[in-house]
Amino acid sequence: MRQPLVVGNWKMHGSRDEAAKLVGGLIQKLGGCQAEIVLCPPFVFLADVADLLSKSSVGLGSQDVATQVQGAFTGEVAAEMVADIGCRYVIVGHSERRTLFGESDALVAEKVAATLRAGLVPIVCVGETAQQRDAGITEEVIAGQLNTVFERLGGADEFVQSRAVVAYEPVWAIGTGVTAEPQQVVQVHQFIRGLLGKLGAASRVLYGGSVKPENAAELFELEDVDGGLIGGASLDIDSFSAICAAAD
Ligand code: PGA
Repeated sequence: MRQPLVVGNWKMHGSRDEAAKLVGGLIQKLGGCQAEIVLCPPFVFLADVADLLSKSSVGLGSQDVATQVQGAFTGEVAAEMVADIGCRYVIVGHSERRTLFGESDALVAEKVAATLRAGLVPIVCVGETAQQRDAGITEEVIAGQLNTVFERLGGADEFVQSRAVVAYEPVWAIGTGVTAEPQQVVQVHQFIRGLLGKLGAASRVLYGGSVKPENAAELFELEDVDGGLIGGASLDIDSFSAICAAAD
């Protein structure tokens, strides 16, 4: 059995005060939740949020990492550093990093390796743009993104055994209010399960892209969907806790 996982990606939002209020409210509401819950605040709030979460079962993740261990890399943060602060997860290859900051499949694969090197679990984001979907190359794009990671780690089996998580996030559904149709989600999740190979049943594959309290239950019930990566709705106590409850 795969334990459902719901990850809140705060992106570049909030202040120290707002982070504390959000975490405080969530801890109160998420008490009996059976799903695994992880919060991914901006780097500068990780230490605060780690403290606030220390007595709860809610986990912590970062939104990105550098590939290097340490050294003269101004502005970068190593996986070992976020592990030191209490993170268990790292979001890697989010579409905003790929499109706005030019991260290639090869760089994403290096970041996955860096995350594992630090003993953390990567949440590897994959997904097609609207143009790629229209051109009928969704599967080709996702296979390219994932296979580059598998090759870097030595194969799909190594990926599964590392307990890495995949998040399918159609780029056209992120932050747009447009959610993929259940049938589109099932199709891509099954395809990803196939890419994961003979051990693939052990991996968690999340859906992300405009998940809201209104559509979460329907999405999480779908075959091969093991929870969600939540952006906008993770900034609101009621919305995020409702989404977590839907994953139970
Ligand atoms: P969204 O973002 O829920 O706001 O669409 C999802 C994501 O970017 O991970």
